[in-house]
Amino acid sequence: MTDQKATNVHWHDGEISREARCNLMGQKGATLWFTGLSGSGKSTVAVALESALHQHGKLSYRLDGDNIRLGINKNLGFTAEDRTENIRRIGEISKLFVDSATFALSSFISPYRLDRDKVRELHNESGFDFIEIFVDCPLAEAEKRDPKGLYKKARAGEIKNFTGIDDPYEAPENPEIHLHTDQMTVDEEVTLIINYLKDNKFLTDI
Ligand code: ADX
Repeated sequence: MTDQKATNVHWHDGEISREARCNLMGQKGATLWFTGLSGSGKSTVAVALESALHQHGKLSYRLDGDNIRLGINKNLGFTAEDRTENIRRIGEISKLFVDSATFALSSFISPYRLDRDKVRELHNESGFDFIEIFVDCPLAEAEKRDPKGLYKKARAGEIKNFTGIDDPYEAPENPEIHLHTDQMTVDEEVTLIINYLKDNKFLTDI
């Protein structure tokens, strides 16, 4: 991963621990990492899940590819190097949200397995939960949906390095949750995720 450039910098703890924040919030938070092709439904599920969590009295915050690329990552494009840096930054930001006791709902194509695994590792090192959700949808279906008209442009050669067309997507091998968005409704997908969170004690008050 990216080397540390600044020297003589040290992590500064405050007086309020993460545990205290979790107790205040009644939740411990986690990163729910949605990965999949453009048009697979990542943002749609994340938006619906955000509402469901809200109804359970749990605070979450969505980090979304397009939104983040309009702000903090506006200086990054779609080369392999830039995508890696995109994911590294979002991984770090997700961790900050989890540290604050919030659920980070991070939706990014994140096409490279190694990049996602590094984010998982970063979370593990800090004792934070990282839940990988594979938003699985056949390319043909995503291309048929083409909500932003980008596949059409990519096929016409107007967008280069487009994931699934002339750039790779490496599917997760062992995701915690596997959604098939061409066969399930959004409600079914949200229920599956909520059940996972219930089974793993993320929705009980702490
Ligand atoms: S990632 O590969 O670095 O994880 P990210 O999720 O942030 O990508 O952004 C993907 C979004 O950018 C897509 O949903 C699409 O709207 C837009 N986009 C523009 N150009 C490309 C491209 N070449 N490949 C993939 N997505 C692109």
